[in-house]
Amino acid sequence: MAGFPEDFLWGSSTAAYQVEGAYQQDGKGLSIWDVYSHLPGTTYQGTNGDVAADHYNRFREDVRLMSELGLKSYRFSIAWARIFPGGVGKPNPAGIQFYSQLIDELLCYDIVPFVTLYHWDLPQALQDQGGWENRELIVSAFAQYAKTCFEQFGDRVKYWITLNEVINFIMLGYRDGLHPPGVRDEGRAIEVSHIVNLAHAEAVAEYRQLVAQGKILDGKIGIAHVLLPGFPISVTPEDVRACEYYEGMDFHWFYDPVLKGEYPPLIWDYYQRKGHTPTVLPGDLDLLKNTVNDFIGINYYQSTFLAYNPPDGVGSATINTSGQKGSQPESGIPDLFKKVRNPDIEYTDWDWAVYPEGLYEGMKRIRARYGNIPLVITENGLGSKDAIAPTGEVLDQSRIDYIQKHLIWCKKAIAEGIPLFGYFAWSFIDLLSWLNGYQKQYGFVYVARDRNLARHPKQSYWWYQEVIQTHGESLYLSQEKTAES
Ligand code: BG6
Repeated sequence: MAGFPEDFLWGSSTAAYQVEGAYQQDGKGLSIWDVYSHLPGTTYQGTNGDVAADHYNRFREDVRLMSELGLKSYRFSIAWARIFPGGVGKPNPAGIQFYSQLIDELLCYDIVPFVTLYHWDLPQALQDQGGWENRELIVSAFAQYAKTCFEQFGDRVKYWITLNEVINFIMLGYRDGLHPPGVRDEGRAIEVSHIVNLAHAEAVAEYRQLVAQGKILDGKIGIAHVLLPGFPISVTPEDVRACEYYEGMDFHWFYDPVLKGEYPPLIWDYYQRKGHTPTVLPGDLDLLKNTVNDFIGINYYQSTFLAYNPPDGVGSATINTSGQKGSQPESGIPDLFKKVRNPDIEYTDWDWAVYPEGLYEGMKRIRARYGNIPLVITENGLGSKDAIAPTGEVLDQSRIDYIQKHLIWCKKAIAEGIPLFGYFAWSFIDLLSWLNGYQKQYGFVYVARDRNLARHPKQSYWWYQEVIQTHGESLYLSQEKTAES
Protein backbone atom coordinates (compact mmCIF):
# COMPACT_ATOMS: atom_id res chain seq x y z
CA MET A 1 0.00 0.00 0.00
CA ALA A 2 1.33 3.46 -0.89
CA GLY A 3 2.26 5.44 2.21
CA PHE A 4 1.28 8.89 3.34
CA PRO A 5 2.60 11.55 0.95
CA GLU A 6 6.01 12.99 1.82
CA ASP A 7 4.61 16.42 2.72
CA PHE A 8 1.51 15.06 4.50
CA LEU A 9 0.32 17.54 7.13
CA TRP A 10 0.24 15.68 10.43
CA GLY A 11 -1.79 18.07 12.48
CA SER A 12 -4.20 18.79 15.25
CA SER A 13 -7.00 21.34 15.68
CA THR A 14 -8.68 23.69 18.11
CA ALA A 15 -11.18 26.54 17.81
CA ALA A 16 -11.02 30.00 19.37
CA TYR A 17 -14.05 29.95 21.65
CA GLN A 18 -13.27 26.46 22.90
CA VAL A 19 -9.66 27.08 23.83
CA GLU A 20 -8.72 30.73 24.16
CA GLY A 21 -10.63 32.05 27.16
CA ALA A 22 -9.79 35.74 27.80
CA TYR A 23 -13.23 36.53 26.52
CA GLN A 24 -13.10 40.18 27.45
CA GLN A 25 -9.36 40.78 27.31
CA ASP A 26 -7.56 43.37 25.22
CA GLY A 27 -10.60 44.92 23.61
CA LYS A 28 -12.30 41.76 22.37
CA GLY A 29 -16.00 42.18 21.63
CA LEU A 30 -18.58 39.67 22.82
CA SER A 31 -19.51 36.80 20.55
CA ILE A 32 -22.86 35.05 20.39
CA TRP A 33 -21.38 32.20 22.42
CA ASP A 34 -20.17 34.57 25.15
CA VAL A 35 -23.72 35.78 25.53
CA TYR A 36 -25.62 32.52 24.94
CA SER A 37 -23.54 30.40 27.30
CA HIS A 38 -24.33 32.87 30.11
CA LEU A 39 -28.07 32.35 29.69
CA PRO A 40 -29.46 29.84 32.19
CA GLY A 41 -30.09 26.34 30.88
CA THR A 42 -28.27 26.64 27.57
CA THR A 43 -25.10 24.60 28.17
CA TYR A 44 -24.02 21.61 30.23
CA GLN A 45 -24.11 22.71 33.88
CA GLY A 46 -23.68 26.31 32.80
CA THR A 47 -20.16 25.79 31.44
CA ASN A 48 -18.71 28.41 29.16
CA GLY A 49 -15.54 29.52 27.41
CA ASP A 50 -14.77 32.55 29.60
CA VAL A 51 -11.48 30.94 30.64
CA ALA A 52 -11.43 27.69 28.60
CA ALA A 53 -7.79 26.51 28.43
CA ASP A 54 -6.57 30.13 28.63
CA HIS A 55 -4.68 29.52 25.41
CA TYR A 56 -4.80 33.25 24.74
CA ASN A 57 -2.40 33.85 27.60
CA ARG A 58 -0.46 30.58 27.36
CA PHE A 59 -0.08 30.13 23.63
CA ARG A 60 3.72 30.07 23.77
CA GLU A 61 3.68 27.14 26.19
CA ASP A 62 1.11 25.40 24.00
CA VAL A 63 3.09 25.89 20.82
CA ARG A 64 6.15 24.47 22.57
CA LEU A 65 4.10 21.38 23.40
CA MET A 66 2.98 21.17 19.77
CA SER A 67 6.57 21.27 18.68
CA GLU A 68 7.59 18.52 21.10
CA LEU A 69 4.72 16.45 19.81
CA GLY A 70 6.14 16.98 16.32
CA LEU A 71 3.07 18.58 14.75
CA LYS A 72 3.64 19.62 11.16
CA SER A 73 0.57 21.82 11.20
CA TYR A 74 -1.83 23.40 13.67
CA ARG A 75 -5.41 24.30 12.78
CA PHE A 76 -6.92 27.08 14.84
CA SER A 77 -9.66 29.62 14.33
CA ILE A 78 -9.65 33.38 14.60
CA ALA A 79 -12.24 34.97 16.86
CA TRP A 80 -13.96 37.52 14.63
CA ALA A 81 -14.81 39.66 17.67
CA ARG A 82 -11.10 39.96 18.57
CA ILE A 83 -10.37 41.45 15.17
CA PHE A 84 -13.60 43.49 14.89
CA PRO A 85 -15.18 43.87 18.34
CA GLY A 86 -18.32 45.23 16.69
CA GLY A 87 -18.19 42.82 13.74
CA VAL A 88 -17.34 45.62 11.28
CA GLY A 89 -15.62 48.98 11.49
CA LYS A 90 -12.23 49.63 13.01
CA PRO A 91 -10.02 46.58 13.65
CA ASN A 92 -8.68 46.00 17.15
CA PRO A 93 -4.84 46.13 17.01
CA ALA A 94 -4.50 43.85 20.06
CA GLY A 95 -6.55 41.14 18.37
CA ILE A 96 -4.44 41.33 15.25
CA GLN A 97 -1.30 41.26 17.34
CA PHE A 98 -2.37 38.10 19.17
CA TYR A 99 -2.86 36.05 16.00
CA SER A 100 0.23 37.55 14.44
CA GLN A 101 2.31 36.43 17.39
CA LEU A 102 0.71 32.99 17.38
CA ILE A 103 1.50 32.57 13.69
CA ASP A 104 5.08 33.73 14.19
CA GLU A 105 5.53 31.37 17.10
CA LEU A 106 4.26 28.44 15.02
CA LEU A 107 6.52 29.30 12.12
CA CYS A 108 9.44 29.57 14.48
CA TYR A 109 8.94 25.85 15.20
CA ASP A 110 8.23 24.99 11.54
CA ILE A 111 4.56 24.33 12.25
CA VAL A 112 2.31 25.30 9.35
CA PRO A 113 -0.60 27.52 10.46
CA PHE A 114 -3.93 26.28 9.09
CA VAL A 115 -6.45 29.02 9.77
CA THR A 116 -10.24 28.89 10.08
CA LEU A 117 -11.97 32.24 9.83
CA TYR A 118 -15.28 31.25 11.39
CA HIS A 119 -15.79 28.55 13.98
CA TRP A 120 -19.25 29.66 15.15
CA ASP A 121 -18.41 32.71 17.29
CA LEU A 122 -20.23 35.49 15.47
CA PRO A 123 -19.78 38.94 17.02
CA GLN A 124 -22.90 39.63 19.12
CA ALA A 125 -23.08 43.12 17.60
CA LEU A 126 -23.84 41.52 14.22
CA GLN A 127 -26.34 39.12 15.75
CA ASP A 128 -28.15 42.12 17.18
CA GLN A 129 -28.67 43.30 13.61
CA GLY A 130 -30.01 39.98 12.37
CA GLY A 131 -26.74 38.05 12.10
CA TRP A 132 -26.68 35.37 9.39
CA GLU A 133 -30.29 36.16 8.48
CA ASN A 134 -29.42 39.69 7.37
CA ARG A 135 -28.04 38.98 3.91
CA GLU A 136 -27.21 42.55 3.08
CA LEU A 137 -25.17 43.04 6.23
CA ILE A 138 -23.54 39.69 6.82
CA VAL A 139 -22.21 38.74 3.40
CA SER A 140 -20.18 41.91 3.09
CA ALA A 141 -19.24 41.95 6.79
CA PHE A 142 -17.80 38.45 6.52
CA ALA A 143 -15.99 39.28 3.28
CA GLN A 144 -14.51 42.40 4.91
CA TYR A 145 -13.40 40.46 7.98
CA ALA A 146 -11.89 37.76 5.78
CA LYS A 147 -10.08 40.35 3.69
CA THR A 148 -8.61 41.94 6.80
CA CYS A 149 -7.31 38.56 7.98
CA PHE A 150 -5.82 37.82 4.55
CA GLU A 151 -4.13 41.22 4.51
CA GLN A 152 -2.79 40.92 8.05
CA PHE A 153 -1.69 37.27 8.03
CA GLY A 154 -1.60 36.23 4.38
CA ASP A 155 2.11 37.00 4.12
CA ARG A 156 2.69 33.98 6.39
CA VAL A 157 -0.44 31.81 6.21
CA LYS A 158 -0.87 29.50 3.22
CA TYR A 159 -3.96 27.53 4.23
CA TRP A 160 -7.36 29.08 4.88
CA ILE A 161 -10.77 27.71 5.78
CA THR A 162 -13.66 30.12 5.50
CA LEU A 163 -16.33 28.39 7.63
CA ASN A 164 -16.45 25.42 9.95
CA GLU A 165 -19.32 22.92 9.72
CA VAL A 166 -22.02 24.99 8.14
CA ILE A 167 -24.65 22.30 8.79
CA ASN A 168 -24.06 22.42 12.52
CA PHE A 169 -24.09 26.10 13.22
CA ILE A 170 -27.14 26.52 11.02
CA MET A 171 -29.21 23.50 11.96
CA LEU A 172 -28.37 23.54 15.67
CA GLY A 173 -28.71 27.32 15.76
CA TYR A 174 -31.82 27.90 13.67
CA ARG A 175 -33.71 24.60 13.37
CA ASP A 176 -33.07 22.80 16.66
CA GLY A 177 -32.61 25.79 18.97
CA LEU A 178 -29.60 24.23 20.69
CA HIS A 179 -26.90 26.70 19.65
CA PRO A 180 -27.20 30.48 19.45
CA PRO A 181 -29.38 32.17 18.40
CA GLY A 182 -31.61 29.36 19.74
CA VAL A 183 -34.20 29.49 16.95
CA ARG A 184 -36.48 26.54 16.06
CA ASP A 185 -37.64 27.20 12.54
CA GLU A 186 -36.60 25.03 9.62
CA GLY A 187 -37.57 27.63 7.04
CA ARG A 188 -35.25 30.21 8.61
CA ALA A 189 -32.48 27.64 8.82
CA ILE A 190 -32.70 26.87 5.12
CA GLU A 191 -32.77 30.56 4.24
CA VAL A 192 -29.59 31.06 6.29
CA SER A 193 -27.88 28.12 4.57
CA HIS A 194 -27.97 30.00 1.27
CA ILE A 195 -26.74 33.27 2.77
CA VAL A 196 -23.82 31.46 4.39
CA ASN A 197 -22.86 29.95 1.02
CA LEU A 198 -22.76 33.44 -0.48
CA ALA A 199 -20.54 34.67 2.36
CA HIS A 200 -18.13 31.82 1.68
CA ALA A 201 -18.06 32.67 -2.03
CA GLU A 202 -17.40 36.37 -1.40
CA ALA A 203 -14.57 35.60 1.00
CA VAL A 204 -12.94 33.32 -1.56
CA ALA A 205 -13.31 36.09 -4.15
CA GLU A 206 -11.50 38.54 -1.83
CA TYR A 207 -8.73 36.01 -1.39
CA ARG A 208 -8.29 35.42 -5.13
CA GLN A 209 -8.13 39.15 -5.71
CA LEU A 210 -5.41 39.75 -3.14
CA VAL A 211 -3.39 36.83 -4.53
CA ALA A 212 -3.80 38.14 -8.10
CA GLN A 213 -2.56 41.55 -6.94
CA GLY A 214 0.50 39.86 -5.45
CA LYS A 215 -0.34 41.22 -2.00
CA ILE A 216 -0.37 37.89 -0.16
CA LEU A 217 1.02 34.38 -0.55
CA ASP A 218 -0.55 32.22 -3.23
CA GLY A 219 -1.93 29.58 -0.88
CA LYS A 220 -5.01 27.40 -0.66
CA ILE A 221 -8.53 28.18 0.47
CA GLY A 222 -11.52 25.93 1.13
CA ILE A 223 -14.31 25.19 3.59
CA ALA A 224 -14.61 22.58 6.38
CA HIS A 225 -17.77 20.51 6.22
CA VAL A 226 -18.85 17.79 8.57
CA LEU A 227 -19.01 14.41 6.86
CA LEU A 228 -21.76 12.18 8.22
CA PRO A 229 -22.22 9.46 5.62
CA GLY A 230 -25.43 7.46 5.82
CA PHE A 231 -25.84 3.71 5.54
CA PRO A 232 -29.22 1.96 5.25
CA ILE A 233 -29.70 -0.43 8.12
CA SER A 234 -31.11 -3.03 5.71
CA VAL A 235 -31.30 -3.56 1.98
CA THR A 236 -35.07 -3.02 1.77
CA PRO A 237 -36.03 -0.32 -0.75
CA GLU A 238 -37.68 1.67 2.09
CA ASP A 239 -34.48 1.87 4.11
CA VAL A 240 -32.38 2.58 1.05
CA ARG A 241 -34.74 5.42 0.12
CA ALA A 242 -34.61 6.72 3.70
CA CYS A 243 -30.83 6.85 3.41
CA GLU A 244 -31.04 8.73 0.11
CA TYR A 245 -33.16 11.44 1.73
CA TYR A 246 -30.86 11.64 4.71
CA GLU A 247 -27.76 12.04 2.54
CA GLY A 248 -29.55 14.58 0.37
CA MET A 249 -30.43 16.66 3.40
CA ASP A 250 -27.38 16.36 5.62
CA PHE A 251 -24.67 15.96 2.99
CA HIS A 252 -25.57 17.11 -0.54
CA TRP A 253 -27.57 20.16 0.58
CA PHE A 254 -24.37 21.60 2.07
CA TYR A 255 -21.70 20.29 -0.32
CA ASP A 256 -23.49 20.76 -3.67
CA PRO A 257 -23.82 24.57 -3.62
CA VAL A 258 -20.18 24.98 -2.67
CA LEU A 259 -18.81 22.40 -5.10
CA LYS A 260 -21.34 22.45 -7.94
CA GLY A 261 -23.11 25.77 -7.59
CA GLU A 262 -26.55 24.15 -7.26
CA TYR A 263 -28.90 22.60 -4.72
CA PRO A 264 -29.82 18.90 -4.89
CA PRO A 265 -33.21 18.59 -6.68
CA LEU A 266 -34.52 15.84 -4.36
CA ILE A 267 -34.20 18.05 -1.31
CA TRP A 268 -35.06 21.29 -3.09
CA ASP A 269 -38.40 19.70 -4.03
CA TYR A 270 -38.92 18.49 -0.49
CA TYR A 271 -38.33 21.97 0.99
CA GLN A 272 -40.48 23.48 -1.75
CA ARG A 273 -43.40 21.30 -0.73
CA LYS A 274 -43.00 22.72 2.79
CA GLY A 275 -42.56 26.28 1.53
CA HIS A 276 -38.98 26.34 2.84
CA THR A 277 -36.78 26.93 -0.19
CA PRO A 278 -34.28 29.77 0.25
CA THR A 279 -34.44 33.05 -1.64
CA VAL A 280 -32.01 32.65 -4.51
CA LEU A 281 -31.53 35.93 -6.39
CA PRO A 282 -30.35 36.22 -9.98
CA GLY A 283 -26.58 35.79 -10.08
CA ASP A 284 -26.34 33.82 -6.82
CA LEU A 285 -25.85 30.44 -8.42
CA ASP A 286 -23.35 31.85 -10.92
CA LEU A 287 -21.37 33.27 -8.04
CA LEU A 288 -21.33 29.86 -6.34
CA LYS A 289 -20.51 28.04 -9.59
CA ASN A 290 -17.59 30.32 -10.29
CA THR A 291 -16.10 29.88 -6.83
CA VAL A 292 -13.17 27.51 -6.97
CA ASN A 293 -12.31 25.69 -3.75
CA ASP A 294 -8.75 24.44 -3.54
CA PHE A 295 -9.74 21.72 -1.10
CA ILE A 296 -12.51 20.48 1.15
CA GLY A 297 -11.88 20.04 4.85
CA ILE A 298 -13.67 17.06 6.35
CA ASN A 299 -14.71 16.84 9.99
CA TYR A 300 -15.49 13.18 10.57
CA TYR A 301 -16.50 11.60 13.87
CA GLN A 302 -19.23 9.10 13.06
CA SER A 303 -21.55 7.62 10.48
CA THR A 304 -25.34 7.39 10.58
CA PHE A 305 -27.51 4.31 10.09
CA LEU A 306 -30.94 4.85 8.61
CA ALA A 307 -34.31 3.19 8.45
CA TYR A 308 -37.65 4.22 7.02
CA ASN A 309 -39.66 6.36 9.44
CA PRO A 310 -43.47 6.08 9.10
CA PRO A 311 -45.66 9.22 9.00
CA ASP A 312 -46.42 8.88 12.72
CA GLY A 313 -42.78 8.03 13.52
CA VAL A 314 -40.14 9.83 15.59
CA GLY A 315 -39.27 13.48 15.15
CA SER A 316 -36.36 15.54 16.44
CA ALA A 317 -35.01 14.51 19.84
CA THR A 318 -32.75 15.81 22.53
CA ILE A 319 -29.11 14.88 22.19
CA ASN A 320 -26.99 12.94 24.64
CA THR A 321 -25.08 15.55 26.64
CA SER A 322 -24.51 13.37 29.67
CA GLY A 323 -22.03 10.78 28.40
CA GLN A 324 -24.43 8.03 29.52
CA LYS A 325 -24.22 5.46 26.76
CA GLY A 326 -27.65 4.54 25.38
CA SER A 327 -29.39 7.74 26.49
CA GLN A 328 -29.72 9.11 22.95
CA PRO A 329 -33.29 8.50 21.75
CA GLU A 330 -34.01 7.71 18.11
CA SER A 331 -34.74 10.76 15.99
CA GLY A 332 -35.77 11.43 12.43
CA ILE A 333 -38.18 13.06 10.05
CA PRO A 334 -41.59 11.38 9.80
CA ASP A 335 -42.27 9.76 6.44
CA LEU A 336 -38.61 10.13 5.42
CA PHE A 337 -36.01 8.58 7.68
CA LYS A 338 -34.94 7.84 11.22
CA LYS A 339 -31.47 7.41 12.67
CA VAL A 340 -31.17 3.99 14.27
CA ARG A 341 -28.62 2.08 16.28
CA ASN A 342 -26.58 -0.52 14.44
CA PRO A 343 -26.12 -3.45 16.84
CA ASP A 344 -22.89 -4.52 15.11
CA ILE A 345 -21.12 -1.23 15.73
CA GLU A 346 -19.32 0.13 18.74
CA TYR A 347 -20.70 3.40 20.17
CA THR A 348 -19.02 6.06 22.28
CA ASP A 349 -20.45 7.12 25.64
CA TRP A 350 -22.20 9.93 23.75
CA ASP A 351 -23.79 7.39 21.38
CA TRP A 352 -21.66 8.31 18.39
CA ALA A 353 -21.15 5.30 16.07
CA VAL A 354 -17.46 4.46 15.78
CA TYR A 355 -17.19 3.48 12.14
CA PRO A 356 -13.77 4.23 10.61
CA GLU A 357 -14.65 2.71 7.24
CA GLY A 358 -17.38 5.37 7.07
CA LEU A 359 -14.62 7.97 6.68
CA TYR A 360 -13.11 6.05 3.78
CA GLU A 361 -16.52 5.44 2.20
CA GLY A 362 -17.44 9.10 2.67
CA MET A 363 -14.27 10.28 0.91
CA LYS A 364 -15.07 7.95 -1.97
CA ARG A 365 -18.58 9.40 -2.17
CA ILE A 366 -17.14 12.92 -2.31
CA ARG A 367 -14.90 11.87 -5.18
CA ALA A 368 -17.76 10.16 -7.01
CA ARG A 369 -19.99 13.23 -6.75
CA TYR A 370 -17.55 16.14 -7.00
CA GLY A 371 -14.43 14.78 -8.70
CA ASN A 372 -10.92 14.46 -7.39
CA ILE A 373 -10.80 17.63 -5.28
CA PRO A 374 -7.98 17.61 -2.67
CA LEU A 375 -9.19 16.62 0.79
CA VAL A 376 -7.89 17.19 4.28
CA ILE A 377 -9.28 15.72 7.48
CA THR A 378 -9.75 18.89 9.52
CA GLU A 379 -11.23 17.10 12.56
CA ASN A 380 -11.39 13.51 13.81
CA GLY A 381 -11.15 12.30 17.37
CA LEU A 382 -12.77 10.69 20.36
CA GLY A 383 -14.63 12.46 23.13
CA SER A 384 -14.33 10.61 26.43
CA LYS A 385 -14.00 11.04 30.17
CA ASP A 386 -10.33 10.17 30.40
CA ALA A 387 -9.11 8.12 33.35
CA ILE A 388 -6.24 9.32 35.51
CA ALA A 389 -3.87 6.69 36.97
CA PRO A 390 -2.61 6.99 40.57
CA THR A 391 0.70 8.11 39.04
CA GLY A 392 -1.10 11.06 37.50
CA GLU A 393 -0.79 9.72 33.97
CA VAL A 394 -3.85 10.32 31.79
CA LEU A 395 -4.90 7.02 30.26
CA ASP A 396 -6.59 7.40 26.92
CA GLN A 397 -5.95 4.16 25.08
CA SER A 398 -9.46 4.35 23.60
CA ARG A 399 -8.49 7.60 21.87
CA ILE A 400 -5.35 5.95 20.49
CA ASP A 401 -7.41 3.05 19.14
CA TYR A 402 -9.93 5.40 17.61
CA ILE A 403 -7.40 7.61 15.83
CA GLN A 404 -5.31 4.64 14.75
CA LYS A 405 -8.23 2.93 13.02
CA HIS A 406 -9.23 6.12 11.22
CA LEU A 407 -5.68 6.78 10.04
CA ILE A 408 -5.43 3.28 8.63
CA TRP A 409 -8.56 3.90 6.55
CA CYS A 410 -7.06 7.22 5.46
CA LYS A 411 -4.02 5.37 4.20
CA LYS A 412 -6.22 3.01 2.24
CA ALA A 413 -8.00 5.98 0.67
CA ILE A 414 -4.66 7.52 -0.31
CA ALA A 415 -3.56 4.19 -1.84
CA GLU A 416 -6.69 4.30 -3.97
CA GLY A 417 -5.80 7.71 -5.32
CA ILE A 418 -7.81 10.01 -3.05
CA PRO A 419 -5.78 13.23 -2.80
CA LEU A 420 -5.76 13.46 0.98
CA PHE A 421 -3.02 15.86 2.05
CA GLY A 422 -3.41 16.13 5.81
CA TYR A 423 -4.97 14.84 8.99
CA PHE A 424 -5.85 17.07 11.95
CA ALA A 425 -6.87 15.24 15.09
CA TRP A 426 -9.47 16.96 17.23
CA SER A 427 -8.15 18.27 19.50
CA PHE A 428 -4.64 19.31 20.39
CA ILE A 429 -5.53 20.15 23.98
CA ASP A 430 -8.57 19.54 26.20
CA LEU A 431 -11.06 22.28 25.53
CA LEU A 432 -14.69 23.23 25.92
CA SER A 433 -17.24 21.01 24.24
CA TRP A 434 -20.06 23.34 23.18
CA LEU A 435 -22.88 21.47 24.88
CA ASN A 436 -20.87 19.06 27.04
CA GLY A 437 -18.62 21.39 28.95
CA TYR A 438 -15.26 20.08 30.11
CA GLN A 439 -16.39 16.54 30.91
CA LYS A 440 -15.97 15.43 27.29
CA GLN A 441 -12.28 15.48 26.54
CA TYR A 442 -10.64 15.18 23.14
CA GLY A 443 -7.08 16.45 23.65
CA PHE A 444 -3.59 14.99 23.39
CA VAL A 445 -2.81 17.35 26.26
CA TYR A 446 -4.73 17.25 29.53
CA VAL A 447 -5.61 20.50 31.25
CA ALA A 448 -5.85 20.22 35.03
CA ARG A 449 -8.79 22.51 35.70
CA ASP A 450 -8.29 22.11 39.44
CA ARG A 451 -4.59 22.97 39.28
CA ASN A 452 -4.33 26.30 37.57
CA LEU A 453 -4.87 24.81 34.11
CA ALA A 454 -1.54 22.99 34.17
CA ARG A 455 -0.81 21.05 30.98
CA HIS A 456 0.09 17.33 30.92
CA PRO A 457 0.70 15.24 27.80
CA LYS A 458 -1.52 12.13 27.76
CA GLN A 459 -0.66 8.61 26.55
CA SER A 460 -2.06 9.56 23.15
CA TYR A 461 0.39 12.48 22.91
CA TRP A 462 3.39 10.14 22.98
CA TRP A 463 1.65 7.70 20.67
CA TYR A 464 0.87 10.41 18.09
CA GLN A 465 4.45 11.66 18.40
CA GLU A 466 5.67 8.25 17.23
CA VAL A 467 3.12 8.14 14.41
CA ILE A 468 4.43 11.47 13.13
CA GLN A 469 8.09 10.55 13.62
CA THR A 470 7.64 7.30 11.66
CA HIS A 471 5.42 8.98 9.07
CA GLY A 472 2.60 6.58 9.87
CA GLU A 473 4.67 3.37 9.89
CA SER A 474 4.15 2.80 13.62
CA LEU A 475 0.42 2.54 13.03
CA TYR A 476 0.81 -0.90 11.56
CA LEU A 477 3.27 -2.03 14.17
CA SER A 478 0.90 -1.14 16.96
CA GLN A 479 -1.95 -2.76 15.08
CA GLU A 480 0.03 -6.00 14.75
CA LYS A 481 0.82 -5.78 18.43
CA THR A 482 -2.89 -5.41 19.18
CA ALA A 483 -3.73 -8.29 16.83
CA GLU A 484 -1.12 -10.53 18.52
CA SER A 485 -2.19 -9.73 22.04
C1 BG6 B 1 -17.26 19.52 15.67
C2 BG6 B 1 -16.86 20.93 15.96
O1 BG6 B 1 -18.61 19.53 15.39
O2 BG6 B 1 -17.18 18.58 16.67
C3 BG6 B 1 -16.00 21.09 17.20
O3 BG6 B 1 -16.26 21.53 14.85
C4 BG6 B 1 -16.54 20.20 18.29
O4 BG6 B 1 -15.95 22.43 17.53
C5 BG6 B 1 -16.40 18.76 17.84
O5 BG6 B 1 -15.96 20.39 19.54
C6 BG6 B 1 -16.83 17.75 18.86
O6 BG6 B 1 -18.14 17.98 19.27
P1 BG6 B 1 -18.58 17.86 20.77
O7 BG6 B 1 -20.02 18.18 20.77
O8 BG6 B 1 -18.32 16.46 21.15
O9 BG6 B 1 -17.73 18.82 21.50
